[in-house]
Amino acid sequence: MWPYPKVVAHRGGGTLAPENTLAALRCGLKHGYRAVEFDVMLSRDGVPILMHDAVFGRTVRGVGKVSDFTAEELTAMDAGSWLGEQFAGERICTYRQALDFCRQNDIWMNVEIKPAEGFEVETGRIVAQLTEECFAHEVEEHVASADGAWADPALPLFSSFSFEALRAAQVAAPDIPRGFLTDTIENDWQQRLQELDAVALHTNHKYLSPIQAQAVKQAGYGLFCYTVNTPNRAAEILGWGVDGFCTDRIDLISAE
Ligand code: G3P
Ligand code: MG
Repeated sequence: MWPYPKVVAHRGGGTLAPENTLAALRCGLKHGYRAVEFDVMLSRDGVPILMHDAVFGRTVRGVGKVSDFTAEELTAMDAGSWLGEQFAGERICTYRQALDFCRQNDIWMNVEIKPAEGFEVETGRIVAQLTEECFAHEVEEHVASADGAWADPALPLFSSFSFEALRAAQVAAPDIPRGFLTDTIENDWQQRLQELDAVALHTNHKYLSPIQAQAVKQAGYGLFCYTVNTPNRAAEILGWGVDGFCTDRIDLISAE
C-alpha cells in the first residue's frame, strides 16, 4: 500500500508562488498541503539548492549555467520577481533550508534530484547524504521495523529522471526510498525499478494508459503522476489505480 500522501504540491506551491522557494513552501502550507515536491541541483561548490532549470533566464534573471555559480552567489539571487512584484527579493533557497522548513512543519517531501549534465553521480550522492544526515533517527527506526520494500511516510522519497543520480543516492543512502521518473513508460521499466530497488514509478499522466497503470500496480510498485491540474483528471487516474500525484493547482485540488 502507498504509505505517502496522495496529493503533493508541485515545486513547493504549484503556480501560486515562485517555484522551488521558501515562499512556495509557505504557500503550500497555507493551502493545507503537508506534502511537497521540489527539484534539487548542485551549486558549483557542491551545495544542493532548489532549482528546476539548468540555465538562468526563466525564473532567475541572467544567462549561463546555474552550476557555474557558488551557493553564496546563488542564494543572493532573486527567484521571485519573475512571478510578480509581491515576490521580489525571494531568494534561491538551499536544500538544507527546505529540509529544515519541511521538518519544522511536518511536511512530507518528494525530493526530485535534478542534476546538471555531467553531475549526476555527485548530485545523487550529496543530496542523499544530506538527507540521511537530517533523517538519521527516522532511518534507524525504519531499518529496525522495515516492512518489505516500502518505507514509512516519516522518510522522504527521492525521484529522478537520471538513473545515475538515483543509483548514486541508493549507494549513499540505501534506506531512503527511490522512485524512477520517466515521461513515458518504456518496455524496460520494471528492470530499471529492480536495478534501483525502487518503490515507485513516477510518470507523466498525459501519456499513461489504464493498462500501464494496472501493470505497475500488479507488479507491486507505487505509481505517482505529474502534473495533474484538474479535479476531474485526478479522479480519473486515481480510478485507474494511481497512488498519488503532484499538482500546480493547490487552489483547485484540496490536499487530503
Ligand atoms: O517530479 C515530478 C515532476 O516535477 C517532474 O517534472 O519538470 O516538473 O520537474 P518537472
Ligand atoms: Mg520536479
